[in-house]
Amino acid sequence: MTTSPFSPSLQLADGRAIPQFGLGVYKVDDSLAAHLVEGAIEAGYRHVDTAKLYFNEAGVGAGIRASGVQREEIFVTTKVWNDDQGYDETLRAFDTSLELLGLDYVDLYLIHWPAPAQDRYVETWRALETLKGEGRARSIGVSNFNAPHLDKLLANATETPVINQIELQPWLQQHELRAYNAAHGILTEAWSPLARGRVLDDPTLAAIGEKHGKTPAQVVLRWHVQSGVAVIPKSNSLDRIRENSLIFDFELDAADLAAIAALETGERTGSDPDTVG
Ligand SMILES: NC(=O)c1ccc[n+]([C@@H]2O[C@H](COP(=O)([O-])OP(=O)(O)OC[C@H]3O[C@@H](n4cnc5c(N)ncnc54)[C@H](OP(=O)(O)O)[C@@H]3O)[C@@H](O)[C@H]2O)c1
Repeated sequence: MTTSPFSPSLQLADGRAIPQFGLGVYKVDDSLAAHLVEGAIEAGYRHVDTAKLYFNEAGVGAGIRASGVQREEIFVTTKVWNDDQGYDETLRAFDTSLELLGLDYVDLYLIHWPAPAQDRYVETWRALETLKGEGRARSIGVSNFNAPHLDKLLANATETPVINQIELQPWLQQHELRAYNAAHGILTEAWSPLARGRVLDDPTLAAIGEKHGKTPAQVVLRWHVQSGVAVIPKSNSLDRIRENSLIFDFELDAADLAAIAALETGERTGSDPDTVG
């Protein structure tokens, strides 16, 4: 895989690499997904994050094909939904996702939530290990796993997850979980990196943006990039998709980073991993 025109790649512990910056497509309607994915790829994106739950895998696959960019150049992630946890169920769900995407492999397959009340993520992980062994999921990882969920998974796993995709944004900076991930060779990936757009009204971000000639969204996304995490902002607008990618021509300084660090409140915009599923 070559690096996209703007996004550097990050190394994964399994020897593969992921473009640090990608497109998220949660709440993108399937009928719009192909258009947005094609446009994003034209703008230089080389990484798309979908999930069974998003009901747009077909549109994502169509957009990739319409772009004319070779399959190997695009990093595609999808996820197994909570209702499909379990060994056989996950293998079946994966087949359906691949069929909808119209692909013969994904770059990354994630357990979407640990769903601890079901207590099936260890079995589910065994299915992901099988899929990795078959080469149909090139890399495997988890999402929304807290340290106790990962402790249990690692105690029972052959493969270590290469990624933990978690909510991470200026109000919820996840220092402890990021340190846990790093200590286990797990790359942190930030979902809802813009706090679903809600953090963008913060005057601190506007002031930093003014200093650099950038928008608040670009400031937040640049902060993620400088933090060393993978990041997958979503937008339904091609203009914003392009805007969000223009973050590789400036650098936040120590004062900017300190001001953003001070925005931490612990507020989530999404669900608590202990209670979902
Ligand atoms: N693993 C998980 O459990 C999980 C959970 C949530 C999300 N995710 C992944 O992470 C991706 C991103 O998270 P998200 O979609 O929840 O939220 P997000 O990327 O933090 O924010 C998206 C929101 O911000 C707005 N926005 C985007 N760019 C903007 C800009 N430049 N200026 C102003 N507003 C802007 C969008 O509005 P418009 O669309 O109107 O532009 C949308 O309302 C998802 O799409 C999904 O792939 C994963």
